[in-house]
Amino acid sequence: MTDYTAVLIDFGYILASMLFIIGIKMLGRPERARRGNMVSALGMLIAVVVALLECCLSFSLVIGGMVVGALIGVIAARTIKMTSMPQMVAILNGFGGLASLLVGWENYHSSPDGNSFVIFAIVLAVLIGGVAFSGSVVAYGKLAERISGRPIFFKGQKVVNAAIIAAILICGVLFAWSPTATYAYPLLIIIIGLSLFLGVLGVIPIGGADMPVVIALLNSYSGLAASAAGFIILNNVLIVAGALVGASGLILTGIMCKAMNRSLANVLFGGLQTAVSKAGTDQVQGEPSPISPADAYFVLEAARSVVFVPGYGMAVAQAQHAVKEIGDILEENGAEVRYAIHPVAGRMPGHMNVLLAEANVPYEQLAEMDDVNPIMDSVDVCVVIGANDVVNPAAREIESSPIYGMPVINADQAKTVIVLKRSMAAGFAGVDNPLFVKPNTRMLFGDAKASLQQLVSEFKES
Ligand code: TAP
Repeated sequence: MTDYTAVLIDFGYILASMLFIIGIKMLGRPERARRGNMVSALGMLIAVVVALLECCLSFSLVIGGMVVGALIGVIAARTIKMTSMPQMVAILNGFGGLASLLVGWENYHSSPDGNSFVIFAIVLAVLIGGVAFSGSVVAYGKLAERISGRPIFFKGQKVVNAAIIAAILICGVLFAWSPTATYAYPLLIIIIGLSLFLGVLGVIPIGGADMPVVIALLNSYSGLAASAAGFIILNNVLIVAGALVGASGLILTGIMCKAMNRSLANVLFGGLQTAVSKAGTDQVQGEPSPISPADAYFVLEAARSVVFVPGYGMAVAQAQHAVKEIGDILEENGAEVRYAIHPVAGRMPGHMNVLLAEANVPYEQLAEMDDVNPIMDSVDVCVVIGANDVVNPAAREIESSPIYGMPVINADQAKTVIVLKRSMAAGFAGVDNPLFVKPNTRMLFGDAKASLQQLVSEFKES
């Protein structure tokens, strides 16, 4: 490789890293998020081209791998339902972890006499990559309902986990001490096996509403493993990109824990299950007051301010276009319309933003929980569309509730609340919701899209 090519490659990696960072910054605002994605994708394209220039493998092998990978990716992305996105993200995280594990394993296989720093990076890549892979597979199984989504505990679980971590540390030190010894390779295999086992044990006690936090954390692990793999093969852009994924995953984990008012330790060591077992089932008393679309029309027609609170049920019903239609009708009718979005509404970060953007809801009508809660008592009608946990006042009112302390949108404080859902069933956290029996709440039972379409017809007919 000439000096000129080497400089070009370094320049390409720096440019790609800059584009990643700029792209992530742009993702922070909904109106620039789409372009941010393109900027990061351009960075990735540059990184791939530069890596191919630097590559020591044959091009045909790399291009063959890319074609097969891209094909699987396109088919998976096209066939996956929006509501199944979390499990898709989980399995993609897992593959990232597995790739780093394989890079570490292969690198040791081909040159076991690497310097201590590379050997240390190999241990980290197989350890973190292994945990990310098996943990993500379990998370996928839970979210896709292939295995039970409930937290699984057994006696002495924490002791077993601690013993595995200790065994990995001991094996890691022995391996790094003498990587060329005959016992080193079996030690590496043991580290890989124990890491995979640790990933499974780490995720099985987590369930219910805590799963999104775990997905974000596993995402962070897969980034850290990629960064370690970057140190193994001395690829700057992999180090930077891995560190970015690791850091952003950790930040997202922190944001989600805050949104659910839980500490990370509490999430990881099964705080929700303890809380669930303590919670009574008789805390929600009272009968719901149903309302028909015709009567809901009269309530909404008279409203001067309306806040829509979308949730997972809007995604299931694919009701976003009907929500926008009724929102436009209400605006034409002189009402001020806003859409209040909870940070963990739906099943993935930004789930509601994506759906509402697809329906062309203007960004300026979107309001965050902290902005809408202080004015909720002046809102005439709050329309809850397939949301449940994120509007559950038990989080404020019932100390023994598993979700007590989780910040929620205070829909119950609006003058009138209309809840669109099919039944009185609980939401993701499996917790009863006293909002549905409050005196100012009316339940509009049925599929959210069908109910909204009936409301639109009522407005049009009038
Ligand atoms: P949920 O609490 O899950 O409630 C959704 C509600 O939608 C259900 O009670 C369901 O009631 C209703 N629903 C389902 N299909 C419907 C349809 N076709 N039409 C009308 N309603 C329908 O949703 P949420 O309030 O958005 O809260 C999100 C929950 O998921 C939180 O607990 C959160 O922690 C968790 N979670 C979040 C994420 C992220 S990152 N956003 C990821 C995973 C999990 P019916 O069955 O009676 O209709």
